[in-house]
Amino acid sequence: MASQPVDGQSCSSVEQGILIVGLACLDIVNVASRFPEEDQDMRVDSQRWCRGGNAGNSSVILAQLGVSVEYFGTLARVPVTDIVTQDLARYGVLHNKCVYHTNCFTPTSIVIVNEASGSRTILHGNRSLPELTSEDFDKLDLSCYKWIHFEGRNITEVIKMVEKIRTYNKSCRRDEVITVSVEVEKPRNEYQKLFALGDVVFVSKDYARYHGYKTAVEALHGFSGLIKERAQLICAWGEEGAWGMDEDHHIHHSSAFPPDKLLETLAAGDTFNAAVIFCLWKGKSLQDTLSFSCRLAGFKCGIQGLDISG
Ligand code: ADP
Ligand code: FRU
Repeated sequence: MASQPVDGQSCSSVEQGILIVGLACLDIVNVASRFPEEDQDMRVDSQRWCRGGNAGNSSVILAQLGVSVEYFGTLARVPVTDIVTQDLARYGVLHNKCVYHTNCFTPTSIVIVNEASGSRTILHGNRSLPELTSEDFDKLDLSCYKWIHFEGRNITEVIKMVEKIRTYNKSCRRDEVITVSVEVEKPRNEYQKLFALGDVVFVSKDYARYHGYKTAVEALHGFSGLIKERAQLICAWGEEGAWGMDEDHHIHHSSAFPPDKLLETLAAGDTFNAAVIFCLWKGKSLQDTLSFSCRLAGFKCGIQGLDISG
């Protein structure tokens, strides 16, 4: 299938890359020496306003791993969105096809990072930004991508988007087929529909626990009936590392790689997901993928923010 020019640039002139679909928001990250007590005031050690959101976070990690990566989502047409777009630009993440909305605000998370434990507590606010629709998705030239990852949200629309990719995949050459990955993160029943969509499916510890699973292995077996034939299922489990089920339903595990000093687990999961996508995209085995991804996520836990270059 021929590449159509998108925004004046033909895809044949750029490496076919990875598209990450989901949220990029504002994080107001408060780093405190301990978790605050209710109804007291407390000074924090540092506060930063930065871009967050699972899809945004995974995009900047992939960019730093040297991949051609594009972020696609909705953005509010307000000045504070500059924090989001400038950060994406700083890491070389394309975002020029994002859909802008007026009369709404940038989704904002107040994050409390407890320096003593590295834990992150997230309060979500400003829910006025409309979600991405499958009509928005139509503006993309699918021949520009070899891998499309969906942060699982707005399920009905994501199902339609994946349907469009399936139709595209049927019509294109074998070497142009797009791999789809999906994240099942939020503990909500309707998210179950996401399992059938991906060639690679990430299921979170929270979602697994919500369904009564006590370990990642139990969860992988329990959810294995919901995935496509020969799909891979991945389940990260914090300090215990991560498990994955390959196409033949064999289970693999990597332990975690704790940093010398645990500083901040915010976006450890997004870093892990980006690393998994990177490795599988490069054709690595699932075992090597899990090990590299736990190593990178562990490294992230030892730094503030997502600049993994240093
Ligand atoms: P999320 O951030 O989505 O809750 P997890 O807590 O499961 O995701 O973490 C994802 C990955 O990050 C884990 O598989 C592990 O490799 C790494 N990780 C998370 N917490 C720690 C930790 N305390 N020490 C070392 N690695 C960690
Ligand atoms: C971390 C994160 C934060 C954001 C929140 C959105 O995984 O993406 O950056 O505030 O989760 O759910």
